[in-house]
Amino acid sequence: MLVNLDEASARLKRGEVVAIPTETVYGLAADATNEAALRQIYAVKERPANNPLIVHIGDIGQVKDWATEFSPLAQKLAQAFWPGPFTLVLPAKSHVSMVIRANEPTVALRVPNHPLTLQLLKQSGLSVAAPSANKYTQLSPTTAAHVAAGLGDAVPVLDGGACTVGIESTIVSVAGDDWVLLRHGMISEAAITALAGKPAIKTLQTLPKAPGQHLLHYSPRTPLILCADTAELNGFLQTHFLANKTCAALLIGNTAQPNCTTIHLPAEPEKAAEQLYSALHTLDGLGVDTLLVALPPNTPAWAAVLDRLTRAGYKKV
Ligand code: TXA
Ligand code: MG
Repeated sequence: MLVNLDEASARLKRGEVVAIPTETVYGLAADATNEAALRQIYAVKERPANNPLIVHIGDIGQVKDWATEFSPLAQKLAQAFWPGPFTLVLPAKSHVSMVIRANEPTVALRVPNHPLTLQLLKQSGLSVAAPSANKYTQLSPTTAAHVAAGLGDAVPVLDGGACTVGIESTIVSVAGDDWVLLRHGMISEAAITALAGKPAIKTLQTLPKAPGQHLLHYSPRTPLILCADTAELNGFLQTHFLANKTCAALLIGNTAQPNCTTIHLPAEPEKAAEQLYSALHTLDGLGVDTLLVALPPNTPAWAAVLDRLTRAGYKKV
C-alpha cells in the first residue's frame, strides 16, 4: 500500500513500520527508540533476533546521540561518504535498544542519500532502524513494487522510485584509527583505504564480527548457478536442456547470447549494481527451473557485485 510523506511520518510516530526508499535498497523502517515498533521489523521480515539493524540518521551531528566514540577516522569517513551508501559501526551508547544491536556493544549508523527519506527524518524528528525491506534471506527490493511483492500489500510503502545505487551499503567498523570492512558495497575498499591512510585490519578481537552475514542471503527462489564464464554457462545450459529443464541467464558486460532468456547487465560495476536486484527479481519471476549467471571478473571494482552474487548462488566458484 503506497503512503505519502505525511502518512509515513504519522505511522512511524505511532509506532508502525513503513518501507522507505534509500539510494541503496528499500528499508523497512521503525522508530529507533520504540522497542515494540522495532520488534515488528523482525516479525514482518521473519528475521532472527541475532541480526542487528542499521539506524538511519538525518545528519552527521546525530552520531553523538547513538555512539560513545566518534574517532577522527570515523569522522573523516562520515564526512566523505554521508549522505551515501556507507554504514559506520561504532561503540553504542547504553540507551541504544538491544533489539537494534542484537546484544552487540556497537551500533550501525548511516545517513541515507534519498531526498524523500531525508525529508521524512527531518519532518518526523525520528531516527529509524531499517533493514532491507524483504523477507529474511530473500532478494532485496529496489522498487516499491518489489517491496509489495515480497512483504505483501499490507505493508505501507513510501514510493521514492527505483534505487540508484542498487545494492546495500558498505559497512565499516571503526575503533580509534583502526577499521574493518564488514560488508562490501559501492563505496570501495580502495576509497576507504585512501582516506584512512592505511589498509583494513582483517581480524581484530576488539572489533565485532559481522553478525547476520549468512552464506545464503540475497537469494532468488529459483536455484542460481554461478558460472566462471559463458563457456561454463553454455555447458550447464546443455546439461539442463538434455534433462528437460528450463533455464534463464544473467550476463554482465558480455555480449554473448546463450540459447535461453537472458538479461544483459552493463560492463560498468556501478550500472550493473544499480540493475542487479531488479534483474534477479525479473529472472526469478519467469518460473524456470534454474538461473545461470556468468560472473564478472574478480577485480576490486566488482567486489560488491560479486559478493551479492556469491551469496545468492548455489554453487560457489
Ligand atoms: O544499504 C543498506 O545498508 C540497507 C538500507 C536499507 O539502508 N540496509 C541493510 O540492512 O542492508 P540489513 O539489515 O539488510 O543489513 C544490515 C547489516 C546486518 O546484516 C549486520 O551484519 C550489520 O548490518 N550490522 C548492523 N549492526 C551491526 C553491528 N552493531 N555490528 C556489526 N554489524 C552490524
Ligand atoms: Mg538485508
